[in-house]
Amino acid sequence: MTTIIDGNEVAADVRAGLADGIETLKAEGTTPGLATVLMSDDPASETYVSMKQRDCEEVGINGIHVEIDADAPAEELFDTVDELNADPEVHGILVQMPVPDHVDKRRVLRAIDPVKDVDGFHPENVGRMVAGNARYKPCTPHGIQKLLEAYDVETEGADAVVVGRSDIVGKPMTNLLIQKAPLGNATTTVCHSRTKDLAAKTREADIVVAAVGVPELVTGDMLKDGATVVDVGVNRVDADTDKGYELVGDVEFESAKDVAGRITPVPGGVGPMTRAMLLYNTVKAAGVQTD
Ligand code: GUN
Repeated sequence: MTTIIDGNEVAADVRAGLADGIETLKAEGTTPGLATVLMSDDPASETYVSMKQRDCEEVGINGIHVEIDADAPAEELFDTVDELNADPEVHGILVQMPVPDHVDKRRVLRAIDPVKDVDGFHPENVGRMVAGNARYKPCTPHGIQKLLEAYDVETEGADAVVVGRSDIVGKPMTNLLIQKAPLGNATTTVCHSRTKDLAAKTREADIVVAAVGVPELVTGDMLKDGATVVDVGVNRVDADTDKGYELVGDVEFESAKDVAGRITPVPGGVGPMTRAMLLYNTVKAAGVQTD
């Protein structure tokens, strides 16, 4: 029997676990604050940011949202980040990626105060994570670790394959999986668009994390019997629905679920965990900044 991993349930547990910390901070006079900044017309990005704001409201985090016209000069974004860095009510800052082409993404990541960088994307925080001393673990890989933990997936000595080498998911996921730490110690292979025989790699894996943004790339015949399959993909594909599209992952769920031992659905798998870990990092950030 294949277990469908319930990201909504594990995310609810993470949120419930934050309640005490939020109450304590409030009793001490600090309401954790998260600022989201959106400089994009992309409907998917708009949806993600509004879900993050709704999450804040639900758990008692003060959500601040700033929207910047996608054609505005880049300096408008940098000025906004400077103001948020200086605002004592803002403990976490998230600039939704991708930013428009005329904005230097690396400069954005460097501009955010590392202590407020709840994404964990600032080079200082990336360096700390790689060194095994993370300040804030990036939300998606951290959320995946929590899912593996909740479903008793053994990473110690496991063969893991990460499909995708993005800065947001693939690289940090790989780093966490190889670390000498609980939920690490996996022998990890990173595959990408130039990998010669992807199926040969994934078929060897006890754990497959698919994060490439290619709809249904990983199919059941590419998996080992009983593998744990984590699908990070959220791809909009044209479909005859009210919205004119449907969401599919990077894994072909129908064929994969018959082979996998455990598998995350899309939606309802990794997505809610990413959002829950953002709240977790924000509460941590508020604690650090009021110490
Ligand atoms: N775009 C897609 N995922 C993320 C994320 O985790 N953080 C930010 N800032 N932008 C994203």
